[in-house]
Amino acid sequence: MSAYRASLLRFDAAGSAVLDTDGLLVVDAAGKVAAAGDFAQLKSQFVHVPTQHLPGRIIAPGFVDLHVHYPQIDVIGSPADGLLPWLENYTFPEEKRFVAQEYSAQTATFFIAELMRNGVTTALTFATSHVASVNAMFKAADVAGLRIITGKCLQDRNCPDGVRDETEQSLIDTESLIQQWHGKGTRGQLGYAITPRFAPTCSDAQMRGMGELAAKYPDVWIQSHVSENVDEIAWVKELYPQDASYLAVYDRFGLLRHKSIYAHSIHFDDADRALMKARSAAAAVCPTSNLFLGSGNFDFADAANQNMLHGLASDVGGGTSFSPFKNMLAAYYVSRSSSRTSGLAKQAMTLSPEQLWWLHSAGAARALGLEGVVGNLQIGCDADFVILNPQATPLLARRTGRAENLAELLFALIVLGDDRVIEQTHLATS
Ligand code: GUN
Ligand code: ZN
Repeated sequence: MSAYRASLLRFDAAGSAVLDTDGLLVVDAAGKVAAAGDFAQLKSQFVHVPTQHLPGRIIAPGFVDLHVHYPQIDVIGSPADGLLPWLENYTFPEEKRFVAQEYSAQTATFFIAELMRNGVTTALTFATSHVASVNAMFKAADVAGLRIITGKCLQDRNCPDGVRDETEQSLIDTESLIQQWHGKGTRGQLGYAITPRFAPTCSDAQMRGMGELAAKYPDVWIQSHVSENVDEIAWVKELYPQDASYLAVYDRFGLLRHKSIYAHSIHFDDADRALMKARSAAAAVCPTSNLFLGSGNFDFADAANQNMLHGLASDVGGGTSFSPFKNMLAAYYVSRSSSRTSGLAKQAMTLSPEQLWWLHSAGAARALGLEGVVGNLQIGCDADFVILNPQATPLLARRTGRAENLAELLFALIVLGDDRVIEQTHLATS
């Protein structure tokens, strides 16, 4: 056992943020949280446990990134008129390089280090269409002990040579990668995700095959993109005229279910949100990406009103930063603007700092079906946590020093924070 004494940020059963100003986190030999709460209340029970005292620091759950592309690190900041030209001119050419094991391995190792530097301890990431890119990511995550869910990207049409795969082989590869990697890793932390890139680049046969795999392996995840960009949506209408909506295409093929995570989910109507809710599927909200590519604004008010699972994601390389602080700040801006633009009758939905933080930790874990496993510091969770320094810069020290309550403290960190705030990232294995 080991213990850490510092301020402790965690979420109660209702998802409300709780700060133990002088808190204690106790980690058992298996790397699970054995206790978390007020130091004065807990200290007598754990008096013999070696305790690190971290005055002035905050311990918080490791962040959860619900949607990211590890092969797009070198695409960050590539300007384009919108999603489709961005894919064609920057993303597909870069992804071609991941046919090489060496290039994949080197990028995967860099990516894992970048997640850790930014306090992200669980990520659902795309690989490319190359098997080598999947193996490289799982190997790097296994070495680091990080919880990574990834999968081979399937795309057998409407994309260039070098990234386009072949229908039959793509499904064979997916199944053997599931068998090789799902549930593996030192603490069983590696997860497989069946990964259709998006409906426009997958044939009916490929979609059908993925749906069959999803039914055969109900415990694996599914990740894809939906309703991100208006040109993309018009294209899907042409390709799938019989379906009521873009989201309904995935549903028809059995790809909408618990543990399926759909990036963007911006241009939804009430029927889409109801469908997502009915299937227990989740939206990965990618605010820096949506702002950068001009895709549109996720409607947090409607998502909350219709109880649709959702959480925050970086979507690097459409997204501009690995930092959860940057994602939370962008989500805040979006929540303010969407509440103003979405009709007179609607209630405003400006996200609070506690809600923003929850959406990037415990809320994102819930969206993944990993509630009680990661994203929080409740008893039994993996002890994946970050040690934050609220005095990491002179301005942060000055501003957080004036915070009079939890909301003010979290807001100062969200608005002014970046990787410099993350002093240490602890994994359940370390
Ligand atoms: N839609 C299909 N592929 C992608 C991708 O790589 N990034 C984003 N943002 N949207 C996509
Ligand atoms: Zn994406």
